[in-house]
Amino acid sequence: MRVVELFSGAGGMSLGLKQAGFDIVRAYDAWPVAVENYNRNIGSHAKVTDLGDILSVVPELLRLAPDLICGGPPCQDYSSAGRREEADNAKLTLAFGILVATVRPTWFVMENVTNAAKSSTWQEARKVLKAAGYGLTESKIDASRYGVPQSRRRLFVVGRQGERDGFLASSIAAAATQPMTLRDMFGSTVPAAMYFPATSDARRSIWGPDEPAPTIRERSIRPLPVSYRPHPDDAALVENGFVYARPVRAGRGVRSIDEPYPTVTRTASERPGPKYLSSPHPADPIAASSTAVLTIDQISRIQGFPAWWKWEASSKRDILQMIANAVPAPVAASIGRAILDREEGRSTPEIQGGFLQWLVRRGRSRQSARNTKSLAGRARRLLSGRTFSVLALELAALESAEEFKAMKRNPQSDLRQALRLLAEYQAEGHQRRKRPRQIDAQPIEELAKAA
Ligand SMILES: C[S@@+](CC[C@H](N)C(=O)[O-])C[C@H]1O[C@@H](n2cnc3c(N)ncnc32)[C@H](O)[C@@H]1O
Repeated sequence: MRVVELFSGAGGMSLGLKQAGFDIVRAYDAWPVAVENYNRNIGSHAKVTDLGDILSVVPELLRLAPDLICGGPPCQDYSSAGRREEADNAKLTLAFGILVATVRPTWFVMENVTNAAKSSTWQEARKVLKAAGYGLTESKIDASRYGVPQSRRRLFVVGRQGERDGFLASSIAAAATQPMTLRDMFGSTVPAAMYFPATSDARRSIWGPDEPAPTIRERSIRPLPVSYRPHPDDAALVENGFVYARPVRAGRGVRSIDEPYPTVTRTASERPGPKYLSSPHPADPIAASSTAVLTIDQISRIQGFPAWWKWEASSKRDILQMIANAVPAPVAASIGRAILDREEGRSTPEIQGGFLQWLVRRGRSRQSARNTKSLAGRARRLLSGRTFSVLALELAALESAEEFKAMKRNPQSDLRQALRLLAEYQAEGHQRRKRPRQIDAQPIEELAKAA
């Protein structure tokens, strides 16, 4: 699938989608430093462009005809830490919606802070996207459950032409794992990069664990050298066991490596200031002054950038800004895989248990309700996981499925009826978003005891 990214920054989202198997054909961002870093690390298809000037990009976008447009429009105006008023930047969310609605790719993905969901600009953009025929899945996810040791809550909106709202929510929820901790990333005995001796000087020999290895040849199979030691900065972090993260509002500043790190911001490499040191949070397990300080390389990895990624900018502040802005690549890769699985008919939307109770409330026996639910699931599989916002289209697609055509009359009408009932249930507003199971974080007292 061909992808165009808007507001690409240095390329966290592009990197993840590329890892999932998408072909990124163009990326746009107004910040030259971010575009340079993108082009150095991902491929030379990012361009410096002001996306507020919609007309200057529409012709090129139409020519590129992407299958998917993705982007994380700038979000500081909705950010819970900053001003709440929705100023110029927030309008770029609307620009994103208008660009998608004009170019009409089959799919789109938009990322933003969770507060954006309540903003009037997103409501406006949402109307534009609905009018352009997109079914929307709006999922709030925590990055620590999608492959990085960071509790970063973000809104992901996935749209696909013609679908029912919520069509991908169960697949995104199903991809969630146990929260990843800093120890999972930095306490590993597996090296952050691997050595595959190159066959010529033009090729590199060091490969990250997040990318496919080069073709394995006999001489590239080497055991891990006994002399291998984790990077000294990682070893120091694990030995210390705690880091400082400047708290938002009056939160806890000291974090254990047995937790995920909080949301990465531009201040992630800061030492605690005098204000925090003189009135630390009562639940801090050790003194903030004794914690390890994260290096830029570690912050970059916590944000999902691989060890081989090269940052260049005239200031540390710019590098931290690009890192903090990014969608962690493993998160984007998870969303990307959920999209590809659906596109290729390998997944179907889950039918909620509530459908069963709804059927029972309408007078069905439990057995008959269970049969109807399983028939609806079968119909979804015959539709290769597609849902249609218009029931008539859903039924027409079912009629044209080869397996359906080969069935006898009665089972055919049972499947039609099951889809009708499911549509009725969903129209009554039962389309819930499934949340990943809540797993309790380790209590802070235990962390303190361990310290
Ligand atoms: C939240 S960041 C996106 C980060 C990106 N998704 C990633 O994964 O690295 C928002 C980006 O929007 C860019 N931006 C802000 N105003 C813009 C404009 N008018 N036109 C294009 N890009 C703009 C910023 O430079 C910033 O890189």
